[in-house]
Amino acid sequence: MRTLQLADKTVPVIGQGTWRMGEDRHQRQAEVEALQTGIDLGLTLIDTAEMYGEGGAEEVVGQAIAGKRDQVVLVSKVYPHNASRNGIPAACERSLQRMKTDFIDLYLLHWPGSYPLEETVEAFERLREAGKIGRWGVSNFDVSDLLDLNNAACATNQVLYNPQERGIEYDLLPWMQNVAMPLMAYCPIGQAGDLLSNPAILEVADRHDATPAQISLAWVLRQDGVIAIPKAVDPLHLRINAEAAQIDLSIEDELLIDSSWPAPLRKTPLSMV
Ligand SMILES: NC(=O)c1ccc[n+]([C@@H]2O[C@H](COP(=O)([O-])OP(=O)(O)OC[C@H]3O[C@@H](n4cnc5c(N)ncnc54)[C@H](OP(=O)(O)O)[C@@H]3O)[C@@H](O)[C@H]2O)c1
Repeated sequence: MRTLQLADKTVPVIGQGTWRMGEDRHQRQAEVEALQTGIDLGLTLIDTAEMYGEGGAEEVVGQAIAGKRDQVVLVSKVYPHNASRNGIPAACERSLQRMKTDFIDLYLLHWPGSYPLEETVEAFERLREAGKIGRWGVSNFDVSDLLDLNNAACATNQVLYNPQERGIEYDLLPWMQNVAMPLMAYCPIGQAGDLLSNPAILEVADRHDATPAQISLAWVLRQDGVIAIPKAVDPLHLRINAEAAQIDLSIEDELLIDSSWPAPLRKTPLSMV
């Protein structure tokens, strides 16, 4: 698996998302086993958040990484309404307890909120000094937000990116590449929606003897400094996703995908889900 440097760690360019996990106790065992299968396949970067399942996803992660903490790079996110001087350490402590660990490798502000960024950053830095987190970063920040943040210690920005949602190619992605800040691409297979039945994606998949999800992942990963974090519970999906980093798209493949979703020619507001 191709790797890159994120938060002072070497990580695979494909990780595992956890949104929608921890919401249904009947699914819990399957979700735990899925994350463990993913780790065994090399998808050792796990992305979660206090928001997912209101802590349920972090509990699933905790079960999945028991006895395997050292193999995993753990990313979690704090709600903006908790991103205050006192709110951040309390939220982090709850996340650590749910994940049954004493350390989060990378802790992100989930989206821009109303607390001053200086206050949030100061609280992140205190957690770092206390050895509770390795690095901190942000999510759903546009270029203007990163300029407001103006802090070279920010380890990543996690944003929506897939062939249907490529507005960031106009300015945000080049801006991040220019300062060597890795981008974590969420919903990299479009939440398994109509992206996967698009004729251009199907034709490119046919050319590579691959699946549409693999083509979407390969397309996201054609950019330097990008990590994709697909979520999968189905073990077959995990195996398929783990192989996607091996696919190199040709110029002809990219042009065909451009014909369905052209590259942006002007600034558009950052899309979020
Ligand atoms: N920072 C943010 O604001 C934010 C927002 C959204 C998401 N995220 C993060 O990004 C992660 C990924 O985004 P997402 O979960 O919304 O969407 P996604 O990864 O694009 O899609 C997940 C869906 O795709 C299915 N799937 C996975 N692999 C597949 C394959 N090879 N073939 C066909 N279907 C496949 C999954 O099914 P099964 O589960 O049944 O396998 C699931 O229904 C999240 O889980 C979360 O960690 C962050």
